[in-house]
Amino acid sequence: MSVASLPSREIHAQLEAVTRVFPAAPGAGAQPPVHALGPVDLDLRKGEFFAVVGPSGCGKSTFLEVLAGLQKPTAGTVTFEGKVVNGEVADGIGVVFQEDASFPWLTVWDNAAFGLRRNGVAAAEIRRRVDDTLAFMGLKDFARAYPSQLSGGMRQRVCIARTLVLQPRLILLDEPFGALDAQTRLLMGDEVLRLWRRTGASVLLITHALDEAAMLADRVGAMSARPGRFIEVIDTGWPRERDSTIVGEAAFGEITARLWERLRGESLKALGHAGADSMAAE
Ligand SMILES: Nc1ncnc2c1ncn2[C@@H]1O[C@H](COP(=O)(O)OP(=O)(O)OP(=O)(O)O)[C@@H](O)[C@H]1O
Ligand SMILES: [Mg+2]
Repeated sequence: MSVASLPSREIHAQLEAVTRVFPAAPGAGAQPPVHALGPVDLDLRKGEFFAVVGPSGCGKSTFLEVLAGLQKPTAGTVTFEGKVVNGEVADGIGVVFQEDASFPWLTVWDNAAFGLRRNGVAAAEIRRRVDDTLAFMGLKDFARAYPSQLSGGMRQRVCIARTLVLQPRLILLDEPFGALDAQTRLLMGDEVLRLWRRTGASVLLITHALDEAAMLADRVGAMSARPGRFIEVIDTGWPRERDSTIVGEAAFGEITARLWERLRGESLKALGHAGADSMAAE
């Protein structure tokens, strides 16, 4: 079943019947295998902003890591720009992780330069790209600061900058604003829209916040409880020039309500599992 294929638009990345099962841990009485994901089919279009929502533990991070090439699918095929992705991060894909992954021992500037130095990019080019990206992310005045001297939102911007300097054509963001307060999240959403427009990259954002997905994305994929599968993909129809002020529009409320209608039962299922697990542990 191809849930979200629109053959009229160029496909940037594709998942075909992708599943991920974590094998049983060795040893008696250990954890049985966990079927975390799929089967999932998805066509990501070039230049689109796609958001994924779903209950906690449904397999969203697993989905992102399989798409990025950080994990091998157990079955099925992932392709990026026509080439198979299989357990190695493809050139052109940038990832921003769920947790703050800034390096505390490096300044903001050196955090941003890290990947370019590792790739052996010439010093002048590193300087140009890092200065430009830090200015774009509003971090210019903090270039010499260390992550511990920044707010949580600023640290996440450092992580985004570190990925952006590598000029990825597909940017994967795993709940990058999870730990931030609601207002900061709205503003960070605007930042991501801005970078999406400026870079022309395709963006895939994982979030548990339905309003965030409804506000930011061209399409929102709603995932079932584990094993995560797409139960619906909603076209938001937003214009490319948009920002967080669309939260005042009627269509925003309708999209958010529709997502909740689809996810309410799945979230209860996910909670039920968690409850059963914790009761069993008592
Ligand atoms: N390395 C691993 N080994 C074994 N099981 C794993 C591993 N990583 C994830 N899982 C399991 O796979 C399932 C999906 O996890 P995943 O982290 O993808 O969920 P998620 O949707 O990102 O959750 P959250 O919203 O809480 O971030 C969970 O049941 C988890 O326990
Ligand atoms: Mg996750």
